[in-house]
Amino acid sequence: MDRTIGILGAMAQEIDEVKSLLKDKTIVKIANREFVVGKIDGIACVVAFSKWGKVAATITATLMIQEFGVTDLIFIGTAGALADGLKVGDIVISKRLVQHDLDARPIISRFELPLLNRVYVESSPELTELAGKAVSNLLEKGVEHIVGEAAVKEFGLAPKLYFGDIASGDQFISSDAKRQEILSHLPDILCVEMEGAAVAQVCLEFGTPFTVIRTISDSADHNARVDFGKFTMEVANAYSRSIISELIRLL
Ligand code: ADE
Repeated sequence: MDRTIGILGAMAQEIDEVKSLLKDKTIVKIANREFVVGKIDGIACVVAFSKWGKVAATITATLMIQEFGVTDLIFIGTAGALADGLKVGDIVISKRLVQHDLDARPIISRFELPLLNRVYVESSPELTELAGKAVSNLLEKGVEHIVGEAAVKEFGLAPKLYFGDIASGDQFISSDAKRQEILSHLPDILCVEMEGAAVAQVCLEFGTPFTVIRTISDSADHNARVDFGKFTMEVANAYSRSIISELIRLL
């Protein structure tokens, strides 16, 4: 069966960059969302802004699968760093996703997905490996080719690629106390964002392979708000476009 790749992004401008890669575009509007259908490198793709938070991303991911028949889902966006050593500009590719704000105790254990008997949802090994290759290829060429020398200097970029667990919740994390609280329960988490685990749950239920690719935009502490906007405009948009373009080329 031919693949149709769904590409979701958490920032409108970021996903606009990805939309610009599409040829033979058709725009379909459903539920206040714009789905752009077309081809990248001859491969059928559907691209949409997920909107922010778990519920919004759930709606968009479900529509991608149910209305557009996507066979694979790739989520791309930014995240706040939780693990020590992660720096702004680093890239995290998901092994597993968990909702850090899900808690139905005492009925089931903390973080457990109701009726699904698990805390973590694993991303597709194939897509995760491909995403890793795409990012490695780009980093080998040098990040200055993606964002330009000025942004490399301004943000002190020396990006590294990590594979690991990502936590999602309906909160922008911007205090050290909250970072530490999440880490005290989920010590292996590399970064936090607001959509990935919801998309993972949708994909689990539909049996759709997925992966999540996140660029670290902030340190999820008191500096987070200041760093975030500037970084997405000047760095994350270009990262997303280059990573998706390379990933699709490798398919
Ligand atoms: N996305 C990017 N940075 C984030 C943060 N600090 N918290 C939640 N989502 C984010």
